[in-house]
Amino acid sequence: MEQLKIYGGNRLEGTLTVQGAKNSVLPILAASILVKGESILRNCPDLKDVDAAISILRHLGAVVTRDGKDIHINATHITKCDIPDTLMREMRSSVIFLGAILGRMGEAVLSSPGGCELGPRPIDLHLGALRALGAEISEQGGNIICKSAKLQGAEINLSSPSVGATENAMLAAVSANGETIITNAAREPEIMDLQDFLVAAGAKISGAGQSTITIIGGGVGKTVDHRIIPDRIVTATYLSATAFVGGRVELLDCMPEHVATVTDALQAAGSEITIRGQDITIKSNGALQAISPVITRPYPGFPTDAQPCLVAASVKNRGTTVFIENIFQNRYRYVEELRRMGADIKLEGRVAMVTGVDGLTGAGVSATDLRGGAALVVAALGAAGETTVSEIEHIDRGYDNIESALRSLGADIQRISS
Ligand code: UD1
Repeated sequence: MEQLKIYGGNRLEGTLTVQGAKNSVLPILAASILVKGESILRNCPDLKDVDAAISILRHLGAVVTRDGKDIHINATHITKCDIPDTLMREMRSSVIFLGAILGRMGEAVLSSPGGCELGPRPIDLHLGALRALGAEISEQGGNIICKSAKLQGAEINLSSPSVGATENAMLAAVSANGETIITNAAREPEIMDLQDFLVAAGAKISGAGQSTITIIGGGVGKTVDHRIIPDRIVTATYLSATAFVGGRVELLDCMPEHVATVTDALQAAGSEITIRGQDITIKSNGALQAISPVITRPYPGFPTDAQPCLVAASVKNRGTTVFIENIFQNRYRYVEELRRMGADIKLEGRVAMVTGVDGLTGAGVSATDLRGGAALVVAALGAAGETTVSEIEHIDRGYDNIESALRSLGADIQRISS
């Protein structure tokens, strides 16, 4: 088992290029099975979830090679339409393959994804969207079986703007006959990236980034070369860490408009943010103040995935900062670990009240989930003494070598085997 060992207190100084977005590369890897030829994806982060998606593609029959940050997928011959339970378990978001497999093969069989560490993760909106396109869906022995000889374009109104359901609907609709209109679609940047990939592959889609997306079915072409957008949650993590610990860090090529709510919050707390083109510079003396309530909402609201790191960065703020979590239950499991380091955080349902303390003390803590784990790393960087973070496989699902990125900024952080 590996752990991260962190000695807190070093200011963060330097320049970093942010990795490609996990939440873009996963649906785009799923989309690559619609391309009956070669997809080249650039700027892919090296993550456990990406490895798992590649294993799924290989299982389905695609030929996949990796060359540094580039992934080449040849999906000319897709021979299977199922994802076995073992592969489903390796990646929580493997349900994103459903629409693409159904569109390509006329049938998709997945084991039920079940819950996850953030609470139950229902897929009713995904299945409703596929049903609207004509899929027949049944459940047998823990498997979800979707069938459709030919999907038919339809109007799909999502009762809430689910990211995954929007992506699944887009991926299925590309292969349907006629026009599909998705209303109340999620507007996250990763949906725009998926549209950009599909359009580059020859699909006819417009509207991503807005609440209405229109897809004219008819499939895609045979080649595509696409660069994955930078990961806005990783950007938010390094910004939060610098704000908390103090220092001056420049994040390059990170699409500042995607993290506007995060930079606004950090600026309100007293850090200095400068945006030049696609780069963000943050300067902080580490002495921050409480800010008005941070409420997580679908994009363009404050991202739920950035909430834990901002909570960690707020534990020494003068005054009390209130956080309201609107997207996932169980999003505060890391709070107990932060308390072990000395944080003063009161929880009431979806509300966390963070009252500034003088300082944190290093402790042995355990990552409870991906972003909660990142929050512990942020806290440890600003704590006195040594912190060991265990169960870091959660962190590795979303951060490409977090220790080397932070070390390059001057942090004292090492990966050790226990
Ligand atoms: C994606 C992101 C995840 C992020 C989340 C919200 C990926 C791989 N993951 O997850 O990092 O935290 O968006 O920004 O992109 N819901 C239903 N029924 C459904 C689907 C969702 O009730 O069929 C609910 C969920 O329980 C949750 C809310 O809708 O409360 C948002 O979920 P959704 O937007 O679907 O998140 P994911 O796509 O799973």
